[in-house]
Amino acid sequence: MIVQLTEEQQAIKQAARDFAQTVLLPGVIERDRDMIYPEKEIKQMGEMGFLGMMVEPHYGGGGMDTLSYVLAMEEIAKVDASAAVIMSVNNSLVCYGIQAYASEEIKQKYLPKLSTGEWLGCFCLSEPEAGSDATSQKTQAEDKSDYYLVNGTKNWITNGGKAKLHLVIAQTHPELAHKGINVLCVESDQAGVVIGGKEDKLGIRSSDTHSIMYSDVKVDKSQRIGDDGFGFRFAMKTLDGGRIGIAAQALGIAAGAYELSLAYAKQREAFGKPIAQHQAIAFKLADMATEIEAARQLVYHAAYLKDQGKDYARAAAMAKVFASEVAMKHTVEAVQVHGGYGYVREYHVERMMRDAKITQIYEGTSEIQRLVISRAVLNGQLYDPIFITQDKS
Ligand code: CAA
Repeated sequence: MIVQLTEEQQAIKQAARDFAQTVLLPGVIERDRDMIYPEKEIKQMGEMGFLGMMVEPHYGGGGMDTLSYVLAMEEIAKVDASAAVIMSVNNSLVCYGIQAYASEEIKQKYLPKLSTGEWLGCFCLSEPEAGSDATSQKTQAEDKSDYYLVNGTKNWITNGGKAKLHLVIAQTHPELAHKGINVLCVESDQAGVVIGGKEDKLGIRSSDTHSIMYSDVKVDKSQRIGDDGFGFRFAMKTLDGGRIGIAAQALGIAAGAYELSLAYAKQREAFGKPIAQHQAIAFKLADMATEIEAARQLVYHAAYLKDQGKDYARAAAMAKVFASEVAMKHTVEAVQVHGGYGYVREYHVERMMRDAKITQIYEGTSEIQRLVISRAVLNGQLYDPIFITQDKS
């Protein structure tokens, strides 16, 4: 696929790059070290329109396409993967899910606040015993005729301590298995919502990850997204888009580590010449450049399919599994290129290596992506140009 960026897309990419360099870069090391949430930086991202990029303008969003969003995500993640995941969850899991499937009342109530960063949202699917096996929801949304009574615990929730809006996926009709699951809009200040402690993580340390307990939380029926029993399908369809966002985050982490490695290798000398002139390092840079470009093509392709209204579930899974594995592999290589300097905070690449790991885990592990892809392959849904003519189901 050949991508010719429009002038507007180039401007968005440049604006995100400038913002990352001038606002996110100063302080990124300290925020990571001390687990400091980027409060004022995220507020600024909201003001600049980075938190509701694909939301239609009449709901306060940027009305942009997925490719523009991916371009911005890549630039933000090159510098600060924590800010990138905060942005990704708000854009692709929360705003997109509401815009695509919620009632007009819910859209008007929440999208303007979420798009500008006045509110953040979180996506509450994972549970202590339901991660990859997402159909096994234990959280209950008991049908009490005119409201739901929600009880249960959610785990690993990005934006969990900051979000004012929770999209809570919960079981209403256990006898119907995944067809009995609902998704409800719950506000963080509702009685019975208890935010657990902040997780002390290997990477993306300045993002905000919590468990959340719901104890007898009353949720009006008008706060449900979609028909009764739509919750699991909602989660799957929303995650398909989320995976494009995380793939873009992984791409950004890999590209950021590559840019730093290239610059370092050109100025650091060993044996009388820059290390980039030694084949051992030059070939690492060549592999990085090649595989990052391949990841970029997959990510842009998945975004393109989504923008064209085509089926993008498999393309998103391919982009995520490949980009996240490229990010992990080449951030390790970036540390190697930097030698001892790569092992200390000041040079950034050790943080990128730690940040890369989560992209192989959240919004569906690499194993889940391979499951999605292999099922498609075994069902004869071959990935070729004919495939992109299929309409979205
Ligand atoms: N779009 C629409 N519907 C879908 C779908 C999709 N992409 N994928 C599955 N479905 C539907 C199926 O068609 C099926 O519906 P019917 O019974 O009506 O036909 C139903 O969902 C169940 O699907 P499966 O039979 O395939 O279910 P499964 O249990 O075998 O596998 C799975 C499903 C793909 C493994 C799924 O459970 C999954 O994606 N797991 C990973 C969950 C995940 O990504 N969690 C991330 C947590 S969120 C997070 O990380 C957020 C954060 O804060 C960063």
